[in-house]
Amino acid sequence: MKKVCIVGASGKLGRYMVRQALDRGYQVVGVCRERSVPKLAEFADRITVVPGPTNDPELIREAVAGCDGVLTVLVPWGVQQYSSGTAQAVLDHAEPEARLIFSCGWHITRDGEDKYSWKFRAFLRVATRLARLVRAAEIDDQVEACRRIFASDRRWTVVRGSDLEEGESQGLPVWSRHVGDPILESNLTRRVDFALFMVEALTDDTLVQETPAIVGCRTPSALAAAS
Ligand SMILES: NC(=O)c1ccc[n+]([C@@H]2O[C@H](COP(=O)([O-])OP(=O)(O)OC[C@H]3O[C@@H](n4cnc5c(N)ncnc54)[C@H](OP(=O)(O)O)[C@@H]3O)[C@@H](O)[C@H]2O)c1
Repeated sequence: MKKVCIVGASGKLGRYMVRQALDRGYQVVGVCRERSVPKLAEFADRITVVPGPTNDPELIREAVAGCDGVLTVLVPWGVQQYSSGTAQAVLDHAEPEARLIFSCGWHITRDGEDKYSWKFRAFLRVATRLARLVRAAEIDDQVEACRRIFASDRRWTVVRGSDLEEGESQGLPVWSRHVGDPILESNLTRRVDFALFMVEALTDDTLVQETPAIVGCRTPSALAAAS
């Protein structure tokens, strides 16, 4: 892994990934909305910034050229198919052998074997409808983005984050294939460690075409599983 592109580099998760990629000695290209470029000021002399909407195929074509890996923050903001447009642009234009790592939440299911509490399902249903009603976000478009990723024969990994908190790193999160597995019960990960998992996945071929649901390695459920 020599050169990586981070799509959505200016957000909280994105900036953690930029820092960790630079720490590993990778050359970094960051894509973010034009107005968010100042959020990357601390890295200005160390990364290449490609400003613009992340669902613009031409912009993504330029940004991912020559990259061995692409880390993509999938977000459902707005009602413009932002997630699926971003995912499609990356799938279409990344180098053929590039590792493609995407972020999302536990609500994404690949095989339908995830087990959600009724509270989680009710919250998701209400949030999806409400967010669309006020034209704030399309949560179902993140689902569509992942459907397209799952259908692709690319070297992808979709990392599914639990609830997040800020704080010092606790180490690489643990993961499971299915939400509902006891190891995930604590449902909490430090955002910095979510980023760590994404960056580590670039060089972990055991995660190719996997959808790991992650949780902090020092949470009670992770510790209970370890013992
Ligand atoms: N938040 C959670 O509790 C949670 C839980 C599980 C999984 N996740 C996943 O973690 C990832 C990061 O989420 P996060 O909540 O931690 O946020 P984040 O890292 O701060 O990232 C938010 C991203 O959304 C972009 N964005 C914000 N408003 C936008 C708009 N109106 N139009 C287009 N882009 C917009 C931001 O770009 P700018 O810098 O340009 O604003 C930024 O790249 C996502 O994939 C999410 O699904 C989050």
